[in-house]
Amino acid sequence: MPSAQTSIEAATDGRLTGPAALRAHLREGTRAAHEALDARFSGMTEEAGPESYRRFVAMNAAAFADLVPRLLASALAARPEAVAPLVASLAALEADRAAMDLDALGAPEASAPASAAPGLDEAVGIAYVLEGSKLGARYMHRRLLQRRAAELWPEASFRYLADADASAGFSAYLSVLAGADPDDLAAPARQDARLAGAEAAFRHFGAVLDRIDAGPAPAKGHCHGIAP
Ligand code: HEM
Repeated sequence: MPSAQTSIEAATDGRLTGPAALRAHLREGTRAAHEALDARFSGMTEEAGPESYRRFVAMNAAAFADLVPRLLASALAARPEAVAPLVASLAALEADRAAMDLDALGAPEASAPASAAPGLDEAVGIAYVLEGSKLGARYMHRRLLQRRAAELWPEASFRYLADADASAGFSAYLSVLAGADPDDLAAPARQDARLAGAEAAFRHFGAVLDRIDAGPAPAKGHCHGIAP
């Protein structure tokens, strides 16, 4: 659930500035999309979770593989600190995907999210979603560690979750995004462009998951059930 508080900076006229201007608008604008996606993984860290975890990794691997190259083709790539954490997550996801043989789930071809090389603000919205998704992954990693998932799901690979757990704070990342082009971040047209990028990214994740869920059934017997 996108419930985290960030340090809200406000100009003297009460208008949000800097990273807070980015986050408040994007979090509110994508709350429903986030909750809908989150609901599709209900119970994943519980006893019935291994197959859902495979879907989760497959979705993330495919969505990152589609979206990270678009960011690398955008003006955001001029700031390596904005794209490097996402490139690292993609590598971790590809390692998980190979280790868990997720090709059996089918390689989803989802619809293209907005343009192939997004504008800077749109790219910032996409990057917000990708890096933000690691907040949920961090939470899941801790929950799965508590439940000894690595022992109970011996075929599962947790590189992406561990990478997300080890990542620098989201607030610091938002500062990097805000610094990509700090002029008038709160301007409505720029907020709209960022939100369009974030919405397109959420739609893309949903479309990828639709394809996975419509595809061949995951192989049975890969993971043992996890005790409650
Ligand atoms: C699969 C189940 C998911 C769960 C259980 C989940 C859970 C969470 C949680 C607990 C947070 C807040 C963490 C914190 O405040 O420290 C969060 C934040 C966030 N998640 Fe998810 N998440 C899930 C999937 C996703 C996916 C797939 C995406 C992207 C497509 C995503 C995008 C975001 C974003 C952008 C934020 C940051 C919101 C903000 O600005 O505060 N989440 N998620």
